[in-house]
Amino acid sequence: MGKDVIVACDFASAEQVFDFLDKFEGRKPFVKIGMELFYAEGPSIVREIKRRGHKIFLDLKLHDIPNTVKKSMAVLSRLDVDMTNLHAGGTVRMMEGALEGLTRPDGTRPILIAVTQLTSTDQEAMENDLLIKEPIADVVMHYAANAKRAGLDGVVCSPLEAGKVHDRCGDSFITVTPGVRFADGDIGDQKRVMTPAEAKKIGSDYIVVGRPITAAADPVAAYERCVAEFVD
Ligand code: C5P
Repeated sequence: MGKDVIVACDFASAEQVFDFLDKFEGRKPFVKIGMELFYAEGPSIVREIKRRGHKIFLDLKLHDIPNTVKKSMAVLSRLDVDMTNLHAGGTVRMMEGALEGLTRPDGTRPILIAVTQLTSTDQEAMENDLLIKEPIADVVMHYAANAKRAGLDGVVCSPLEAGKVHDRCGDSFITVTPGVRFADGDIGDQKRVMTPAEAKKIGSDYIVVGRPITAAADPVAAYERCVAEFVD
């Protein structure tokens, strides 16, 4: 699995994202488009960034009945994204439907990964709000195993969980990990963070990096630093 740095383009408009991407000139970072930008600009933002030569992780975290997710994934697949995701909590049947919808007539499809439990959900919220009484680490591993059983390619997880996910689901099961910060950088609202070099050591396949790059004085240098620590 080729390791790569995915830049979280958490901007509110096309204008802001293009101003940002223009700074990279010849380089074409793998870009994550989340709900904010997608809901603001619609599918045209995906087509335009793709046209500029970037790979795209469309982070929309689908969760609905299997038939709806299957049909929606078919639409996303036609948008020619490289990676997309859903909530493993939608059940194995929903994930199987998603995979079916995502697969193009020629058999190719974007990488499909699952969100296990969101990192904003803690043990207390899981027990009180969701009535799930198991330890959260077990729940995360169980959901990862479900994603694998459904035929998905991997999960989004904390870099701290990436090693355990590989132990349980195999080395080729992809781990995509946000919560990455430089050793000398601001942590912001992330709680459990790792440097790109540490994420590499623990076996993350892709790191998702937002503000350490988007808010840097020199975003291109910050991106290059991530690549140097994580990929090279
Ligand atoms: O700016 P920062 O590097 O914290 O951005 C991380 C990106 O990864 C954001 O787009 C955030 O929504 C996403 N993310 C996360 N933690 C998760 C899942 C996604 O930070 N558990």
